Amino acid sequence: MNLHPKNLENLKRYNITAWFYDILDLPWEMQYRKWRPQLLTGVSGNVLEVGVGTGRNLRYYPPGVTHLTALDFSPAMLQHARRRAEGASCPVLFVQDDVCTMSSIPSDHFDWVVACFLCCVLPFDYQDQALSQISRVLKPGGRFCLLEMVYSKDRSLRKRQDFFAPFVEKVYGARFDRNTLEHAKNTPGLVVTGTRFVKQDTYLLIEGRSGK
Ligand SMILES: C[S@@+](CC[C@H](N)C(=O)[O-])C[C@H]1O[C@@H](n2cnc3c(N)ncnc32)[C@H](O)[C@@H]1O
Repeated sequence: MNLHPKNLENLKRYNITAWFYDILDLPWEMQYRKWRPQLLTGVSGNVLEVGVGTGRNLRYYPPGVTHLTALDFSPAMLQHARRRAEGASCPVLFVQDDVCTMSSIPSDHFDWVVACFLCCVLPFDYQDQALSQISRVLKPGGRFCLLEMVYSKDRSLRKRQDFFAPFVEKVYGARFDRNTLEHAKNTPGLVVTGTRFVKQDTYLLIEGRSGK
């Protein structure tokens, strides 16, 4: 893996965070675990999850998923995810790779690409590269969904987010202002078909398909 410098910073961060990630994230995971099965309901066929982290989604993939490839650039995060593979309803192939290049992944290969809280971690300069890669690996007509944190328009929620923002960036490398929706809309080969908030106006689900 030949990583760009800002991605390398994130890789180092996640190789350390991995050891306490599940404990640290637990207060948030308590709500995410209610959403995860719903987000994955319609997902089927040959699926790629990018930025799989510690594998929190793995047990929620529905039986229509025939093959699951779980990609992350952090070996330490993948190590945790492997332990969760036994809860999955289909075989899981773990791949260590950078979503911005995905050199180990063939083109036009997947029916679905799923990412939860990945793009909000990706540095601004790499949003387009990652989304272009998602476009490349999707089969024509394939679908994608991205779950992201975004800034609220509500003043008191925004204030709360501003309070947590330095912590979130320091520990997760994540930000609320990655503007992934705009990047996805502008990515050749991707068509955004819908968006909805999963909670308030802070957790945004972006759904779409390949336009190839
Ligand atoms: C905030 S965590 C989310 C984990 C998981 N998707 C979840 O819902 O709990 C972000 C994950 O993305 C991975 N990641 C960040 N940048 C990446 C990149 N450029 N390529 C591949 N994985 C990346 C991190 O290692 C981490 O596991």
